[in-house]
Amino acid sequence: MSFPAIRMRRMRRDAFSRALMREHTLLPGDLIMVAFVIEGEGRRERVPSMPGVDRLSIDGLLELAGECVRLGVPALALFPAPDPAVKSEDAAEAWNPDNLMHRATRALKAKYPQLGLIGDVALDPYTTHGQDGLIDADGYVMNEPTVQALVKMSLAQAEAGMDFVAPSDMMDGRIGSIRDALEAAGHIHTRILAYSAKYASSFYGPFRDAVGSAANLGKGNKHTYQMDVANSDEALREVELDLAEGADAVMVKPGMPYLDVLRRVKDAFGAPTFVYQVSGEYAMLKAAAQNGWLDEKAVVLESLTAFKRAGADAILTYYALDAARWLRGE
Ligand code: PBG
Repeated sequence: MSFPAIRMRRMRRDAFSRALMREHTLLPGDLIMVAFVIEGEGRRERVPSMPGVDRLSIDGLLELAGECVRLGVPALALFPAPDPAVKSEDAAEAWNPDNLMHRATRALKAKYPQLGLIGDVALDPYTTHGQDGLIDADGYVMNEPTVQALVKMSLAQAEAGMDFVAPSDMMDGRIGSIRDALEAAGHIHTRILAYSAKYASSFYGPFRDAVGSAANLGKGNKHTYQMDVANSDEALREVELDLAEGADAVMVKPGMPYLDVLRRVKDAFGAPTFVYQVSGEYAMLKAAAQNGWLDEKAVVLESLTAFKRAGADAILTYYALDAARWLRGE
């Protein structure tokens, strides 16, 4: 034969055949918006390391929720940036039935019952030391006492109407304990999104600014509970345990540097698998776009499509509303 019979470029020649062979399609329904909530009324605070992301008081959060509903973004993940005055050693504000998170949940559910709400379950916004759990005299995060606190926090969120509780703390055994407590309290429909493969990543810096835990954490780190960035077999073990303990969906976090982990998790378990395009990823894309170095719309949609290709069923991203608008041609 004088020339190969297989020409890969034939199918790429025209838009119609490119469309027909396209394996994955990104939709607004794949996206989960992320929001930071603060006390007050009519308050909107910039997050300097995340241009375009504002911390919102509950009224602003309701507007954002309305945009999610209008654009077909099915869920909103909520993170509180509570007043420093409510922080304590024991993080008790986390399960105060009237705390900011629970007031936000009730307001959102009253106005937009169809919008899924995902509540962060970890103590870092509420501790004076910025760790995700309770610490002993040496500063070590104690597993079982922390799990007991996370159980109280999860029950309080479920009580307020949260659809998903999402433990992002990486304590051992917390999924099973939370699941037992939810069942015992009759919250049989409350879903658990387990941050199963959560890495001790340096891509969380802007988030820690946003929730106000960065200063408290200081030079501290989370290496005794979050995963070593060098590992992926360990991620599979974490996911296996969380599913066995009763997780409804699992998560890989961060996103873009961890597509290999995402693919392995999806292939190994076939469970609902979410990925989190974290604050540092957002900050990088935004900064390059603002400098005119990257085409923002193109690179954001490319990064989100890559998550689907790698096996994600849903994507938490600060770009959810922008991406939904772009996908809808707005
Ligand atoms: C803490 C938590 C973090 C994020 C979500 N929950 C930061 C951390 O582990 O220090 C990071 C999210 C992001 O960077 O966008 N429980």
